[in-house]
Amino acid sequence: MNNPVYIDHIKKQLLDAVNPERLEHGEYIPLDDNNFSWKLGMVRRLDLFLRKWHLAICKFNNTDTREVGKDWPSYADTMIGRKRLDNIQFCFEEVVKNNVPGDLIETGVWRGGATIFMKALLHDAGITDRNVWVADSFQGLPKPNADKYAADKGDLHDTKEELAIPLEVVQNNFRKYNLLDDNVKFLKGWFKDTLPVAPIEKLSIIRLDGDMYESTMDGLVNLYHKLSKGGFIIIDDWGAVKACKQAVLDFRKEHNITDEIKTIDWTGVYWQKS
Ligand SMILES: C[S@@+](CC[C@H](N)C(=O)[O-])C[C@H]1O[C@@H](n2cnc3c(N)ncnc32)[C@H](O)[C@@H]1O
Repeated sequence: MNNPVYIDHIKKQLLDAVNPERLEHGEYIPLDDNNFSWKLGMVRRLDLFLRKWHLAICKFNNTDTREVGKDWPSYADTMIGRKRLDNIQFCFEEVVKNNVPGDLIETGVWRGGATIFMKALLHDAGITDRNVWVADSFQGLPKPNADKYAADKGDLHDTKEELAIPLEVVQNNFRKYNLLDDNVKFLKGWFKDTLPVAPIEKLSIIRLDGDMYESTMDGLVNLYHKLSKGGFIIIDDWGAVKACKQAVLDFRKEHNITDEIKTIDWTGVYWQKS
């Protein structure tokens, strides 16, 4: 790492932790069309009325769990918490130290925070010949396809509007950090459509954060063979979503992968490809 102050600041910025005292008592977010479906017409009318006096109805977000990546933050650019950011940094430094060839990818980026961090690490290291691939539908998760992936039966992620972040918002988030350039490549669409045809040659870090069985399996099937020896695969939802863990176990069994799975925090795990 060339500039630890820069990297530390980027982490704080991504976690919305630059001013921790602001979050001491949680966060009050004014309701608006982006974070509330306004099914309650009365509430909507009361809110409009209050706005005349510069008041607003707010929803409360507990931020105690921000550092460990357990909330869906209102403003932070990532929901993965500090330890999982540290883990990206660890994997990146190992890859550079050992000259492991290949680009970096995250499948499931939400507001883009983890991929912005990957790009910041490349920028800090002065590396310009590796791409960061940013793969997402940019419209949230797919409806579960329980006929093909039984483990996803009853999954409700597709109903969560908070998870649908448009491409333009993510691109703007990269711009906020002055980190948008031609080496940031966006793959827009469902993983099952984009990943099989993505023009990616080699990868050194794969980060899977698509929550569901299908989304995790699509990443593994289409990307794992492109991961260089000595490269890292990171699974964000191993502890949080049973179906995600199942997809990883099924894939490892089918391909006889025995590399040791290491724990990052309460949900994230990773292994290094031998
Ligand atoms: C939990 S969020 C990712 C959080 C993010 N990594 C961060 O740093 O905060 C999950 C993301 O995966 C995307 N996603 C999940 N399954 C997908 C699929 N099958 N195809 C495309 N996008 C998918 C959703 O749109 C959403 O943006």
